[in-house]
Amino acid sequence: MSYIEALAGPLLRQLAPETAHHLALRVLEAGGVGAPGIEPDPILATEVAGVSFRSPLGLAAGFDKDARAVPALGQIGFAHVEIGTVTPRPQPGNPRPRVFRLRAQEALINRLGFPSEGLDAVAARLADRPRDLVVGANVGCNRVTADPIADIAEGITRLGSLVDYVCVNVSSPNTPGLRDLQTGSALDRLLEQIRLARREVEDAAGRPLPLFLKVAPDLSAPQVQDLVERLIRQPVDGLAVSNTTVARPPTLTGRHRGEAGGLSGRPLFEPSTRLLAMLYRMLPRSITLIGVGGVSDATDAWRKIEAGAGLVQLYTGFVYQGTGLIRRIHTGLAEFVRDSGHPSLAAAVGTRADAIGEARPDA
Ligand SMILES: Cc1cc2nc3c(=O)[nH]c(=O)nc-3n(C[C@H](O)[C@H](O)[C@H](O)COP(=O)(O)O)c2cc1C
Repeated sequence: MSYIEALAGPLLRQLAPETAHHLALRVLEAGGVGAPGIEPDPILATEVAGVSFRSPLGLAAGFDKDARAVPALGQIGFAHVEIGTVTPRPQPGNPRPRVFRLRAQEALINRLGFPSEGLDAVAARLADRPRDLVVGANVGCNRVTADPIADIAEGITRLGSLVDYVCVNVSSPNTPGLRDLQTGSALDRLLEQIRLARREVEDAAGRPLPLFLKVAPDLSAPQVQDLVERLIRQPVDGLAVSNTTVARPPTLTGRHRGEAGGLSGRPLFEPSTRLLAMLYRMLPRSITLIGVGGVSDATDAWRKIEAGAGLVQLYTGFVYQGTGLIRRIHTGLAEFVRDSGHPSLAAAVGTRADAIGEARPDA
């Protein structure tokens, strides 16, 4: 634990979650990162969609929505940072309070509703981003918009040349109608438009721009089938599985468990990992999966990889455990790779997808 964390941790836990978050972000932005993270073991190095990552572990979208603290987030050890969700025009999001802690479960419920400084502000900050860290931009639509797909395409064309990949968020539960873009003819239209937007960036920048799509853990089996069929016809480079869930497992405790919004953290681990394994079994290997949801130690990260994840992201675990978690996951993952006998991390991807994807929800 860094000096600053030892001091700030207990204080942050006393504050309202969103206040604590903004304070932590300010400290990071001001360069108060403590000791830099240790370089991950080279056995963890991996390549996805032509991009080299020094480890599979990255910070999930939503923590640094406006790209305020990217250098510091790299310094504390994340091998990639996904900024956003960014909406085209600035918007405030939902009324507060809109983030709630479920401490006993190391979980959060949020209904932020995409507070964003908008593309202009974020593009200006990304122009100065560090080049030795993989940075992705997560893009979405404004709450009030005539055309959500056009908003998303605008995010790609505006930010694409400034980042190493773009992730299209169609899975936040807090923007009405957004999740309808995950299936049916709306998904076809979305896939077509985002591929056109990507091509525009690629033609102008003269380099490939990997395109990821982020999905919800609450898709029904027929919806998953529909998503897979459409992705086979119009592929993307990666699928982030998953966003937060609107489900409320009966085991949740704490006075905030009934709040509306998306649930993240430990209770999300099983459902998101099961969906990850299912999708790994159904999709062609050319589509890399990014395992997100409830990762709170190295064992969880390893299970995501065995379930089919080429990259792993986390958010809520970082909120509860701080920067030490990054080091623990890196150390533990390197041990898991060595003990497994696989020559590299990539060789372990999906090795238990069949078992994990077939497990029944109550098993
Ligand atoms: C407070 C909060 C805000 C979030 N904001 C976003 C967002 O803007 N865009 C997005 O794609 N995901 C967002 N997420 C979802 C996370 O990126 C991640 O998919 C989810 O929390 C599951 O991972 P975790 O259990 O490690 O937190 C947010 C999550 C939290 C807790």
